[in-house]
Amino acid sequence: MKTLLFGKNGQLGWELNRSLQPLGQVIALNREQADFSDPDSLREIVRNIKPDVIVNAVAFTAVDKAEDDEDLAAIINSVAPGILAEEALRIDALLIHYSTDYVFDGTKEGPYIETDEPNPVNAYGRTKLAGEHALQSSGCNYLIFRTSWIYASRAHNFLLTILKLANERDELSIVADQIGSPTSARLVADTTVLCLHQAVKEKRSGVFSSGLYHLTSSNYTSWHGFSEEIVSTANIYLNASLKVKIIKGIPTVDYPTPAKRPMNSCLSTTGAEKKFHIHLPDWKVLLRLCMEEVYDCI
Ligand SMILES: NC(=O)c1ccc[n+]([C@@H]2O[C@H](COP(=O)([O-])OP(=O)(O)OC[C@H]3O[C@@H](n4cnc5c(N)ncnc54)[C@H](OP(=O)(O)O)[C@@H]3O)[C@@H](O)[C@H]2O)c1
Repeated sequence: MKTLLFGKNGQLGWELNRSLQPLGQVIALNREQADFSDPDSLREIVRNIKPDVIVNAVAFTAVDKAEDDEDLAAIINSVAPGILAEEALRIDALLIHYSTDYVFDGTKEGPYIETDEPNPVNAYGRTKLAGEHALQSSGCNYLIFRTSWIYASRAHNFLLTILKLANERDELSIVADQIGSPTSARLVADTTVLCLHQAVKEKRSGVFSSGLYHLTSSNYTSWHGFSEEIVSTANIYLNASLKVKIIKGIPTVDYPTPAKRPMNSCLSTTGAEKKFHIHLPDWKVLLRLCMEEVYDCI
């Protein structure tokens, strides 16, 4: 089986490039090799490689910047995925794509399920929702995974930012009224491979059907709870002596950002767990595993 992976240097793309290897040949491309701001150029890449599976880990993920550059975000997050979908249909490839909790407005009480009505509150969410629609209307075979609050042992993310700040400051103030599930890029990559393995078998036997699933860790917290867990894991389990003494919980209104965020980002993963016979572990378990890997680098 031949898999074409786009976005190999992102948090998720980097993990996918490792996790996909046992499935067969992986051709992993970076931004220089496949520029999503020129979506039509992707056609030739797909036509030359003729993969069985296309995995798209590329996205315009700068949520605040997207407010000022929604056109570019839309090209990368919806036009380019639409073109990948057209090309996937043309060669009968399976397309794996990722979306976000930010397609929802966050006003629901309790976790969102896949069939809840999206209503994005920012430009990033609007462009990601349009990306979902582009795949869904294309007629190609696809799996879309909506995930949330991604972190990894490398690149830029909340985990590494908190560890850095906690080493420099006595006190941190972190938003305490937005809730979601911190999710390690490795969990998403490993789980993608399990689901993909099943999907490929189903496709070969003619019983595959495309779908959209929520894919995050289990259980939820706030950004404040996430930061407290990061610091206590570092100090208690990894024998760190971080400088920070106080982590204050603050309301969203006290931390204004250009893009509005949903207050409730919780996604129910029951659909994916039932469909693919998988278990999505508690976010704290995966955080500790990831931190064991990164801690020596700080
Ligand atoms: N990060 C989160 O908290 C989060 C939450 C929910 C859903 N998601 C979704 O999960 C998926 C993976 O996100 P991530 O966290 O891995 O994002 P990431 O770390 O920001 O990686 C994004 C990737 O897209 C690439 N990219 C950006 N613009 C490009 C362009 N014009 N042409 C080609 N490549 C380009 C980047 O290339 P460079 O490495 O060269 O910059 C990078 O490899 C995305 O679909 C995202 O929307 C993420």
